[in-house]
Amino acid sequence: MALLDIFRLRREDAGQKHFGAIVCKSCGMIYTAGSTEDEFQHKQYHRSLLDKIKFVGWKKERVVAEYWDGKIILVLPDDPKYAVKKADEVRQLADNELGFKQVSLSCPSRSKTYLFVNSEKKIVGCLVAEQIKLAFQVLDEPVEQEELKKHELLEHYRAWCCSTKPENAICGISRIWVFSLMRRKGIGRRMVDAVRNTFMYGCRLTKEEIAFSDPTPDGKLFASNYCETPAFLVYNFIS
Ligand code: ACO
Ligand code: ZN
Repeated sequence: MALLDIFRLRREDAGQKHFGAIVCKSCGMIYTAGSTEDEFQHKQYHRSLLDKIKFVGWKKERVVAEYWDGKIILVLPDDPKYAVKKADEVRQLADNELGFKQVSLSCPSRSKTYLFVNSEKKIVGCLVAEQIKLAFQVLDEPVEQEELKKHELLEHYRAWCCSTKPENAICGISRIWVFSLMRRKGIGRRMVDAVRNTFMYGCRLTKEEIAFSDPTPDGKLFASNYCETPAFLVYNFIS
């Protein structure tokens, strides 16, 4: 079929039945409208995602920052069950998106979860922070094109190399995730700001005292911008 025919077919189709790839404006899933299987899968994913990110409000909320478009809530391991359960649910969403790249928390009983709740009462950001002692600077070594191709084929693709010299660090960002439709609105940045202000009581951490656990390519772009250097700190990776 010629390209023009396909185009015409799509236009003719438009009024009656949806056709082609669609991005759902609520859940962000890309699916083929008109395909029964895709529509079924979308419906399931849609319902489950919206349920997981729904925030009903809690009697006691540890609000650590407030903005015109939302607020950041801190959840600690000893908080009421409903709060810990919600934090876990959202963390699992992040983990699913990050694949199996993330190493488990070094000490779950001391981890701190920061949730960004937007004005529509949806949890659109999640950050898990943990205490660390050492981290390593990312080296901005140009990776050979051939090497890069080889790495892309591997499941555990790492977009960075790091120094072998350990540096002192205090707070590790084990995971940071922002809902796909809400990225590039400063949610990630505001969550890390909140961590720096509240992770240690009575003191504000500098950008040199935080490190990122095995960053993804997105994470690397974010961290180098946030820390204002490509040589930000990383930890918790498989060498
Ligand atoms: N491409 C280029 N630059 C980026 C990107 C990107 N994808 N993401 C962030 N930045 C840079 C930009 O300079 C941005 O400022 P600008 O938008 O004014 O140009 C700056 O970082 C701040 O970005 P935010 O809007 O605060 O970041 P966002 O809310 O979009 O969250 C995050 C970033 C968390 C990495 C998001 O893209 C995400 O959830 N990705 C999928 C999950 C993931 O890979 N997480 C990181 C894993 S690593 C770890 O967890 C330690
Ligand atoms: Zn949807």
